[in-house]
Amino acid sequence: MTTELTDVETVHEERSWLFTARDPYGEPEEVILVPCEEGVEAWVNRCTHEAQKLDRGMGAAMRDGQIICPKHGSMFDSCSGYCDNGEAAETTLVAVDVTVEDGTVYLDDSTYEFGHEGGADDDDDDDGMPSSTSHIGL
Ligand code: FES
Repeated sequence: MTTELTDVETVHEERSWLFTARDPYGEPEEVILVPCEEGVEAWVNRCTHEAQKLDRGMGAAMRDGQIICPKHGSMFDSCSGYCDNGEAAETTLVAVDVTVEDGTVYLDDSTYEFGHEGGADDDDDDDGMPSSTSHIGL
C-alpha cells in the first residue's frame, strides 16, 4: 500500500522525519526519513548494535550525510544505511521502501503500513503527559 508521508524539502529542512508504521503483526515500528543527496531514504529507527533509537523524538543527529547513533556514536551512511565504524561496524540499518514523485515522499513497502507521524508513543491518546506546551500562555 502506498501512503503519502511528507515532501523531500521538509525532510531536508528538518534533517530527519519520524513516523510510526505497523509491521505485519500490527506492532508499531518507528521509521526515519533522512536526506540522501537530492532524495530521501527510510530506515527503521533502531541502531543495529543495541535497541537504541537513532531519533529520540528530537530529530536524528546527522553529520556529513551520516546518521550518528546517540548511544555509542557509530555513524551510518544515510544513503546506504551502512556503518563502518565503532560498535555497530559492518552492519546495515533495516531499510523501509519509499518512493518519491514530484517531490512528495510515499511509503511504498509491502511489509509496513503507515500508522502516524511521530514516535510510537506520541499518538493521539494522551497519557497525561502534554507533548506540547505551546498553548500555555504567561
Ligand atoms: S547502540 Fe548504537 S552504537 Fe551502540
